[in-house]
Amino acid sequence: MLTEKLARVTIAHLPTPLERLPRLTAQLSGPELWIKRDDQTGLATGGNKSRKLEFLVADAARPEAGERRADTLITGGAAQSNHARQTAAAAAKCGLACLLALKGTKPPQARGNLLLDLLLGADVVWAEGRPLDEVMAQAAEELRVSDRCPYVIPYGGSNPVGASGYVAAMEELLAQCKERDLHFDHIVLPSSSGGTQAGLMVGARALGFEGRILGISIDLLTGALQRLLADLATATAEHLELGFVFAPEDFAVNDDYLGGGYGVVSDLERGAVRAMARAEGVLLDPVYTGRACGGLLDLIHRGAFGEGERVLFWHTGGTTGLFGYEL
Ligand SMILES: Cc1ncc(COP(=O)(O)O)c(C=O)c1O
Repeated sequence: MLTEKLARVTIAHLPTPLERLPRLTAQLSGPELWIKRDDQTGLATGGNKSRKLEFLVADAARPEAGERRADTLITGGAAQSNHARQTAAAAAKCGLACLLALKGTKPPQARGNLLLDLLLGADVVWAEGRPLDEVMAQAAEELRVSDRCPYVIPYGGSNPVGASGYVAAMEELLAQCKERDLHFDHIVLPSSSGGTQAGLMVGARALGFEGRILGISIDLLTGALQRLLADLATATAEHLELGFVFAPEDFAVNDDYLGGGYGVVSDLERGAVRAMARAEGVLLDPVYTGRACGGLLDLIHRGAFGEGERVLFWHTGGTTGLFGYEL
């Protein structure tokens, strides 16, 4: 295993199902569509961050010489952050405290992910316009002063430790493909803080996956996301002692679907959420998988995939967001 030397805790239900999407495929008369169900990782409504947290939480429990084991996980994100919710759940499962720095101000009612953050016992600090990194660093300092030992997880869990979860995920997918004698020409997924796509690319290079891994950008322009992905993938490969170097052009990214910006739900996301729900009984989320699937459906309509090709949509979770946004 590519990640066998890394410390890891068991948080996610793995392997996640790999399923055909026969009715959606038939409706679209395009490529053969499949789905990887990382919305089914099992941790408090699941999602891609569960895989990253298996490595991040283990890292928090194995401090550098001289320091103590962490007793508190700190992370940050949007008010409806799926990453924050899964971090709160991982902390609860592992007996740690959790502090979340969330963008904006406290809403009148806690819904969706925020409702679950609170149920899971996390403390929430509202950033109220301050940069999240600053809020997290300040919270960590205050905890240290009161003799606690915080572990700060960056935005989206996207550092080499977290991205290693998706190197392992690529290995898992290729094992499923081998068992079922399947191959995919394309993998399509939402891409934002980059850990998911970067990890998959490191795994793909290490294991010789030859299909294209297309990230539908959620909030960054193509060039910025490609640079972020190249740096993160190179650092992740180094963390795993693989010695690969990635360039921005190595990453397939599409920024045509940014619409009104992060979390602004439009007809693209609404249409994709409904199409997947009604054709397959699978729930997407309005921010990430709704946008990425909307992009995928549009690309299919435009004939971007060859006849007879097989496309895997990687469902990265976030379904709880359905209860936090107006659809
Ligand atoms: C449901 C969902 N999908 C995709 C992503 C994007 O993954 P990454 O940040 O690793 O690019 C996120 C990030 O928060 C997410 O919550």
